[in-house]
Amino acid sequence: MLTREENELLTLTGPGTPMGELMRRYWLPAMLSTELEADGEPKQIQLLSQKFVAFRDTNGEVGLLDENCPHRGASLAYGRNEECGLRCIYHGWKVDVHGNIEETPSEPEDSTFRFRIKHPAYATHEAGGVIWAYIGPPEKQPGFPDWEWTRASDEQIEVNKVLQECNYAQGLEGSIDSVHSNFLHSADILGRPSDHRPTLEAEDRPYGFRYAAIRKPDTEADRTKYVRITLFVAPSYVFIPPQRRGPGMEIITQHCWVPIDDEHNYFFSMRFNRQAAIAQDHRAQFQIDDQFRPARKRANKHRQDRAAMKNGSWTGIEGVNSQDFAVVESMGPIYDRTREHLGATDVAIIRFRRWLMQAAQALASGIEPPGFGGYSTLASEERIVPADVPWQEVAPCS
Ligand code: FES
Ligand SMILES: [Fe+2]
Repeated sequence: MLTREENELLTLTGPGTPMGELMRRYWLPAMLSTELEADGEPKQIQLLSQKFVAFRDTNGEVGLLDENCPHRGASLAYGRNEECGLRCIYHGWKVDVHGNIEETPSEPEDSTFRFRIKHPAYATHEAGGVIWAYIGPPEKQPGFPDWEWTRASDEQIEVNKVLQECNYAQGLEGSIDSVHSNFLHSADILGRPSDHRPTLEAEDRPYGFRYAAIRKPDTEADRTKYVRITLFVAPSYVFIPPQRRGPGMEIITQHCWVPIDDEHNYFFSMRFNRQAAIAQDHRAQFQIDDQFRPARKRANKHRQDRAAMKNGSWTGIEGVNSQDFAVVESMGPIYDRTREHLGATDVAIIRFRRWLMQAAQALASGIEPPGFGGYSTLASEERIVPADVPWQEVAPCS
């Protein structure tokens, strides 16, 4: 349970809010590389309740600028993307990817006005089929987190972006909740122990925290234990344990919830097969339209099928991801956490909120977020180990 003030601290991420300022200190996935073409359509995007225009210029460079034209504010998303810059359709001012005003054709020919203006432009980085953005103070920009999967070949990676109709924290809390799999996904996730009362242990790390869900295996339960380690990486990333199904398949999954505003986020699902090419099938599972909206959404009750529930389906909702979306969107845009009752298996949820709220409050009082340079080796893990092995040894590099 949180107080009303704590719930606001956790969930509100607009400019000037403590959590918004904290999130602005990290690199975030902003869009898919495929959304922008050289000299193609510029796209309006919103991150943390702030509006931007993104475009790819003639040379392939990505620009992320404030949306409104520096002259009198027309949206640059309507602009002409030509000859290495974005030209406003209102009076023809032209801005490049760095925010330099290249031309002001409506001003006198000898005007030097444009040299005294700089349009806000933000750092971007392209890796793993994703355009990442850093929109915080330029002098505080951290190094890019070079996640293992961003260095893999294109065939090994599948990245999806899906509109989620709720606050980012609500979506994220579903991913650090190991216990729900035994219920919500009971019809879809097979091959895990039936023990649905895991012991949870968590510990803080400079990047966030990691936790283990420890279950009794169905066989040799007296000598061994089944450990699943999940990582929370600030400000809104989660590594869920790898899926291994025989040689050639070891799928690492990293999720991120990027606030669009306080009541919507883009869920980024970044998956990579360490061993071979990956089946690019998640987009089809979500049935995403060209606005990244999934077919199963709150407006159609995620197409829950009552007849299927009578015939053995636990949820009546097809697909693990849609099941996750259904429960977190069903809470409403921002759940009032003064009304919840956290139990023994909500250890990671409590840790997540505490970590982020403390970091946000610290930053508001002038203490910088903990720096971290080891993103390239971060990985979650799952394994059956002898009962006396400490769970931390299951994921030694994290
Ligand atoms: S508003 Fe863009 S050029 Fe005038
Ligand atoms: Fe789930």
